Amino acid sequence: MDKLVVEGSKRLTGTVEISGSKNACLPILAATILTDDKSVIKNASALRDISTMIKILKNLDVKVKQEGAVVTVEPSGFKKYIAPYELVSTMRASICVLGPLLAKHKRAEVSFPGGCVIGPRPIDIHLKGLRALGVEIKVEKGYIIADGRKMRGSHVYLGGHFGSSVLATANVMMAAVLTKGVTVIENAACEPEVVDLAHFLIKMGAKIKGQETHRIIIEGVKKLHGAEHTVIPDRIEAGTYMIAAAITRGDVTLKNAKLEHLIAFIDKLESAGISVKKVPSGLRVKYVKKLKPLDITTLPYPGFATDIQAQMMSLMAVTDGISVITEKIYPERFIHISELNRMGADIILEGATAIIKGVKHLSGAPVMASDLRASAALVLAGLVAKDRTEVHRIYHLDRGYERLEEKLAGLGASVWREKEK
Ligand code: EPU
Repeated sequence: MDKLVVEGSKRLTGTVEISGSKNACLPILAATILTDDKSVIKNASALRDISTMIKILKNLDVKVKQEGAVVTVEPSGFKKYIAPYELVSTMRASICVLGPLLAKHKRAEVSFPGGCVIGPRPIDIHLKGLRALGVEIKVEKGYIIADGRKMRGSHVYLGGHFGSSVLATANVMMAAVLTKGVTVIENAACEPEVVDLAHFLIKMGAKIKGQETHRIIIEGVKKLHGAEHTVIPDRIEAGTYMIAAAITRGDVTLKNAKLEHLIAFIDKLESAGISVKKVPSGLRVKYVKKLKPLDITTLPYPGFATDIQAQMMSLMAVTDGISVITEKIYPERFIHISELNRMGADIILEGATAIIKGVKHLSGAPVMASDLRASAALVLAGLVAKDRTEVHRIYHLDRGYERLEEKLAGLGASVWREKEK
């Protein structure tokens, strides 16, 4: 197993290229099995989660070739419909093969994904949506056994306790594109990743309207064809490097970053005093003056994304004054607090609200990564801490950040990977 070693107190400057979005690419890869034709997906990042999705497709007997950032999928003739526990248990997003398998084969058996370190993560909204389309579902021996022989277009409400659901919207949309009749998804998620999936499906011949709104209308078609698609840039990776610039008092240009995907996040960065400017290649982020504390609540898009909450907490940990962060998507997504406190931060948790008293300095320490975004938060804290920080269990980071240490080093950070002894 590897660890990342970070030596702090280096100001980051220069340009970093943002990779393709993990969370857009995963359902798009799943959608390639909706046709018999070849599809070509470009800007697919070299990440462990993308490799897991490719393994799931190969396990279904789908031919997949990955050459650099280009993934070519040839599903012609595949008959299998099972996504096994061994693969689904390593990545929750595997659930997004459920919709495409139902659309294509009218049956699917997908291992129940279970919870994870950021909270319970149920799939009731996925199942409710598919049942509304006429799918008969039972759970047996840890598997979702779905029979889609009676599927038809329908009116589906996808609201849950915490608002809309990104992957449930993706699943129902993918199930509906080949299902006879009109499906209307109410309270649909409208995250840029859902919109990117809809754009890919439309290129395949699907009839979809309203994908940037909370009401998506899908008219089922008989057949889809192969398509070529370039995945959108990763807004969470972009946000992470923007915080890296802010926390090190740096000046960083993010090549490919899209301002329109980061509105709520940029609004908060600017309120703290960071300068964010659109430039021809992407965005330029510059520290210009002493930062102010913030009050943040995570929300579904276009609100402040939960996937950037942990990283923002690292910035607030070294910002003079009291900041408040409330988590409205995953109320238990706060495992990073105890590790940040080990580095000298002063953060307490009241229910789903973190109260952060900014400290002058963090000090390097050995810390344990618990999930993908928490790991990124610890690396960011390491960038500004005195002395050396060692982030253990970084396989979480490899799930969602492409060449993190190389990209940070390119901006002047002192960070490298070592084998654990
Ligand atoms: N929820 C339910 N029932 C469901 C589904 C979701 O109650 O059936 C709840 C969840 O527990 C959560 C809320 O609804 O409280 C929203 O969850 P959502 O379904 O939108 O999450 P997801 O689709 O499983 C995607 C991303 C996550 C990201 C969330 C929220 C992918 C592969 N994953 O998950 O990304 O946090 O949307 O934006 O797209 C990450 O990249 O680090 C990550 C965790």
